[in-house]
Amino acid sequence: MALQNLVNSLGIRAKFIFMLASLGAVALIGIGYGAYSFSMKNSLNEAATKAQIIDSYIKASREYFMTAQRPLINELVEKDRFYPEIMSGFGITRRTVDMVRGEELHGFKFRQVSMNPHHPPNKADLFEEGLIKNFQQDANLKTLFGKTRDKNGELFYYQSRPIKFASEGCLKCHLDPAYAPKDLIELYGDTNGFDKNYKLGDIFAAYVVYVPLAPAEAAARVQALILFAGGAGTMVVGLLFIWFFLDIRIVKPIMELSARTEEVSIGKNLEKSLASSQMKDEIAALAKSIDRLRISLVKMLKRRKNE
Ligand code: HEC
Repeated sequence: MALQNLVNSLGIRAKFIFMLASLGAVALIGIGYGAYSFSMKNSLNEAATKAQIIDSYIKASREYFMTAQRPLINELVEKDRFYPEIMSGFGITRRTVDMVRGEELHGFKFRQVSMNPHHPPNKADLFEEGLIKNFQQDANLKTLFGKTRDKNGELFYYQSRPIKFASEGCLKCHLDPAYAPKDLIELYGDTNGFDKNYKLGDIFAAYVVYVPLAPAEAAARVQALILFAGGAGTMVVGLLFIWFFLDIRIVKPIMELSARTEEVSIGKNLEKSLASSQMKDEIAALAKSIDRLRISLVKMLKRRKNE
């Protein structure tokens, strides 16, 4: 209500500028938000491609290890000996990924998480536990992906696949410490990583690839801000131009016409024309009409005098 009263009390020029500024502000917010969403969407697509490449490579190298390397290693290594560096696919992947992360792919993460891991850093956090539970509830679910923030608030794209006990061989090292290779117990202990309730086919862990989105998020923010600030600057200059244009071409001529009409109404300067060279467009037409009224008035007054 107060705003309505304020708007009503403004002159044409201020009303017009107020309206344009409001429309401009809405448009700028829309453009800024649109630019931000668009560039985030692109970054998300890009992150999904990167996650896919990393995941596919790890999947392939794991398969090669399982089918080609492990049978051979098992033949060569004495029973009860266990070297995780060459005998655990998960152990090999973890060590390789840690090296890549240290050397090249800063911010990326590839995790093999379980609620009950042999290697304690592989323990699923709250978010990852949620993923595993989702996979457990729906055995047909092949992947989960989306955006998530870590505990420091950093944004990541994640892609996850379930891990299940695909063969009896897995259970040998994860079911019961009594059947596990002695070296494994020595290296990892017999408390964590084992569960006698595990069964063949159980989903109990998950692979999760994390691609950092924080740099993309910061860049999208800066881009949106630059667009917004640039647009706002251009709008202010444009509005100033419109303000002066309205002042010279509309407001001043109308005020002049109004003052002259008032003079005529009280019989002052009756012989002076109302139209002036400053008045153009529709205002000139209005001035001409009022001037015709003045001429008629002058003629009428003369006729009266003569009667
Ligand atoms: C010869 C023993 C052995 C076999 C067989 C084995 N694992 Fe493991 N597994 C390990 C060890 C040791 C680790 C810890 C590796 C590390 O240092 O990161 C591990 C780690 C894991 C992890 C990561 C979580 C954790 O416990 O640290 C998962 C998931 C896993 N194994 C699943 C499987 C599946 C599925 C199979 C069968 C396809 C399997 N394992 C077969 C010994 C084994």
